[in-house]
Amino acid sequence: MSAPRRNVELKATDPDPERSLAVCRNLGADDRGILVQRDTYFRVTDGRLKLREETPGGAALIQYHRSDRPEARESRYRIAPVEDGAALREALDAALGTLVVVDKERRLLLWEGVRIHLDTVSGLGSFLELEGVAPADSDLTAERDRVAQLSEALGLDNSRILADSYSDRLLATAGADELAAAARGAMERAYAPYSNFRVGVALRAPDGSVHVGANVENAAFPLGNCAEASAIGALIAAGRREIAEAAVIGDGEEPCVPCGGCRQRLREFMPLGATVHLLADGGAHATMTLEELLPRSFGPEYLP
Ligand code: THU
Repeated sequence: MSAPRRNVELKATDPDPERSLAVCRNLGADDRGILVQRDTYFRVTDGRLKLREETPGGAALIQYHRSDRPEARESRYRIAPVEDGAALREALDAALGTLVVVDKERRLLLWEGVRIHLDTVSGLGSFLELEGVAPADSDLTAERDRVAQLSEALGLDNSRILADSYSDRLLATAGADELAAAARGAMERAYAPYSNFRVGVALRAPDGSVHVGANVENAAFPLGNCAEASAIGALIAAGRREIAEAAVIGDGEEPCVPCGGCRQRLREFMPLGATVHLLADGGAHATMTLEELLPRSFGPEYLP
């Protein structure tokens, strides 16, 4: 079996790809032109497995592990050249299932053993990636130095550096859309004849399962339930104990915010850094963390 290869990698958003290209050319980087790449990620239990289909070029199966840390990090990977990309894609899709497909245009430049990728990713935007490719016996110091030198020349400050991958970003976007659709479905089933303000909530548990709730009013007004309370009830009844992400949608033009009491209800089951999507039936939306909605909050860890 071949030993994994190693890289030192840095990824950042790129608001000005033209400027980045000019900086790289000024440094004397070798411009290898544009590659059109499609990466198909398969569902695997450990690490990542993707099939890369590239024009010009060919297909390769790539297996790797990578920690989600923003600083220049080490990546270990294996590459197996593939003769018939389409046939392998279909076989792996049938056997494992496809997680996500990332389509991008990549301008490849080479500088002192560092691969510079100026990427335009479908549905995500423009990014810049630096990969210091390490020889087998390297302690990675030289690769780290060169990546640091380049990132300084390119003006990459910390606010632009990313910890996650394109596939994670696309999955998060797709996941948020799915959660919003589930919340909207629940809202359409709300029972709100007194306020005429329908609310729907969808909660994602860490295992990916989604649990929904709607507001349920009552002729004896104070007995009405908020949608968050209904959704939390569904999540608990389904045997889950944690909320990884939430979406709240309400009638009207303004993104629906959870009431104070429901922020506290979410707080019981949700990490403070987790995301809450606030949506309006009319289309407006905002995304916040639970901590932004409920700063300096009280929670289960305060109790003995
Ligand atoms: N409502 C919710 O369902 N969740 C909230 O966080 C805000 C308010 C419902 C309760 C009531 O049925 C209607 O909206 C008007 O207050």
